[in-house]
Amino acid sequence: MSNSLSPADIAKRAAAARALEMVEDGMTLGLGTGSTAAWFVRLLSERMKSEGLEVVGVATSSTTSWLAEELGVPLKSLEASDRIDLVVDGADEFDGDLNLIKGGGAALLQEKIVASAAERMVVVADPGKRVEHLGAFPLPVEVVRFGWPVTKTAVERVLADMDVDGREVTVRMSNGEPLVTDEGHHIFDLHLGRIRDPARLSVALNSLPGVVEHGLFIGMADTVVVGFENGAAEVVQRRLVPDAIELMRDEDA
Ligand code: 5RP
Repeated sequence: MSNSLSPADIAKRAAAARALEMVEDGMTLGLGTGSTAAWFVRLLSERMKSEGLEVVGVATSSTTSWLAEELGVPLKSLEASDRIDLVVDGADEFDGDLNLIKGGGAALLQEKIVASAAERMVVVADPGKRVEHLGAFPLPVEVVRFGWPVTKTAVERVLADMDVDGREVTVRMSNGEPLVTDEGHHIFDLHLGRIRDPARLSVALNSLPGVVEHGLFIGMADTVVVGFENGAAEVVQRRLVPDAIELMRDEDA
């Protein structure tokens, strides 16, 4: 089958296949959004059929819901889920600390809620997503429709005080109109070039009335699986800071 795939799809499939090895019978899985996460859903469905693996998915977008339903992956809502064992999702960028930019597919709000509810977040990506500093990919910010131009001005004011290389804010469009997300909001894309302090920017954006969420996922992913065009995959684990290692030793003792 791999022979008929493009090199990019071979890489995405390889990442998804390696992430699938982390799935165990009986798990509740967060199902991410985007082309790489879609590979995970396809391979999951195949494994359920071939091995009788039993899992339930919690979708992070209407697109992923439709795909899972089409492939026979059972779903439940987040409202009905008391725990999510693992979420497997894509990313637009990841840095050396496994901080992410997400939301290229406009699903960042549900993706972040599901990731924050999950025991573990595993990201599936191709090598082009690996960056030294976040920000070359425009940072998506989800905002309520009410008074959105006012919110845009407020975001621009926040950026004026941030250590970034660019400050342009654009409204994401779809068919000539501002795009409307699954939750009924609009998306701003922040063209920042390089974000020197993602944590500070995260707090500042979240403090603005009208901003619902943004696509910076800081300290949420514990693993990134990078797939390559030759079909290989590399598992990158988040480095533990010395304090966290000490804490784990104490807990183990
Ligand atoms: C959607 C996302 C996607 O996971 C991200 O855009 C990556 O997508 P792809 O795997 O197609 O490159 O955050 O909101």
